[in-house]
Amino acid sequence: MLTGKKILVGVTGSIAAYKSAYLVRELIRLGADVRCILTPAAREFITPLTLSTLSKNPVAVDFVKPEKEGKAGEWENHVKLGMWADLFIIAPLSANTLSKLVTGNCDNLLMAVYLSAKCPVWIAPAMDLDMYNHFSTKENLDKLKSKGIKILDAKDGELASGLEGKGRMEEPYEIAKEIDAFFNPQSKLKGKKILITGGPTYEAIDPVRFIGNHSSGKTGVLLADACAARGAEVFLITGPTREKVKNPYVRVLHVQSADEMMSAVEHNWFDFDAGIFSAAVADYRPENKAPEKIKKSDDRITLNLIKNPDILKWAGLNKKAHQRVIGFALETENEIENAQKKLEQKRADLIVLNSLKDEGAGFGHDTNKVTFVQANNKIRNFELSQKSVLMSQLLDELEQMLS
Ligand code: PMT
Repeated sequence: MLTGKKILVGVTGSIAAYKSAYLVRELIRLGADVRCILTPAAREFITPLTLSTLSKNPVAVDFVKPEKEGKAGEWENHVKLGMWADLFIIAPLSANTLSKLVTGNCDNLLMAVYLSAKCPVWIAPAMDLDMYNHFSTKENLDKLKSKGIKILDAKDGELASGLEGKGRMEEPYEIAKEIDAFFNPQSKLKGKKILITGGPTYEAIDPVRFIGNHSSGKTGVLLADACAARGAEVFLITGPTREKVKNPYVRVLHVQSADEMMSAVEHNWFDFDAGIFSAAVADYRPENKAPEKIKKSDDRITLNLIKNPDILKWAGLNKKAHQRVIGFALETENEIENAQKKLEQKRADLIVLNSLKDEGAGFGHDTNKVTFVQANNKIRNFELSQKSVLMSQLLDELEQMLS
């Protein structure tokens, strides 16, 4: 995620300028604070209005701000803009601006910002085939590279001229992904595939009623975002929740019942390196779901319950040698003993124990108090802390388990 990161997007005169809108949208989705700056030529290809709407910030174009409510002649502070950014990405970069970046020819606001920027500068060139292949272009790119400017190389494909070849601007999704990776140095989870279950399950009694529990789904969502921030490929299978995954790279499947969660896990488990089973799965479900709403008639009714599949146990018993399994245990008595039993019976590599006896722990809260229980009596207690902090400690443990 790019929460709190300030990204300045520079746009130059190129047919690929439309892609800057997608880039801005992608960066915003990742939580970045985005501002845009256009060269005068870029305005022929994309309007400031489009980019200001997407970035939710005014767009800078000229040294002098446009007249507003009778106030004229206000200066666009290029030094401030250059200092503001944590990263300046010029995408698309035209051949014209490329040569100016090399010579320092400061004839527009984008160039003035570039010359005053203290942050890393990245460029994503977009040109026609022969322009990109020209020795001047190659020399200019080499010069910038030698000065520490990161070049997101143009890609092969169909060009606006109708020619085929190298010159297409890198895709906005890929640029945003690289920026994300730059600010979030990857861990040993990079490239690992992690399956997570989260939230409660709802077991239908009739079309309007269900058996459920108080899980908010926070833990599952936090785990998914944290794994993705470490570069893992994440699949979150969650029961009903109001919590929203922030990281757009997390694949999310919403399910209702234990049966639905089970079949999603069964279909996917062998593609994954690890599973974190934080869902509060109902152990039992009504044997039959009434087709219509049950009417209030008798003083007493009986609900027959049958056992649900144990998802964690299935994954533990069927895991391949390279796969690791982390389960949770929510206890109200004999906590450690029960967690150790679950560790063994469900063939988990680690159980995160939380107890409803502890204030601020378990369902719904932003905090939890957990104990990591592993084989050979390995037990680690943690103080009451934010769930995000505890889940980050869990991922440190998972990194060791996978390495
Ligand atoms: O969602 P939050 O509000 O953030 O709350 C988080 C939490 C309290 C739900 C979480 O920290 C937690 O403890 N999750 C597990 C709750 C639970 O169902 O515990 P259990 O002891 O009944 O189950 C043990 C393990 O087996 C769990 O990993 C559970 O996912 C799994 N299980 C249980 C039953 C079943 N039929 N299938 C399972 O996979």
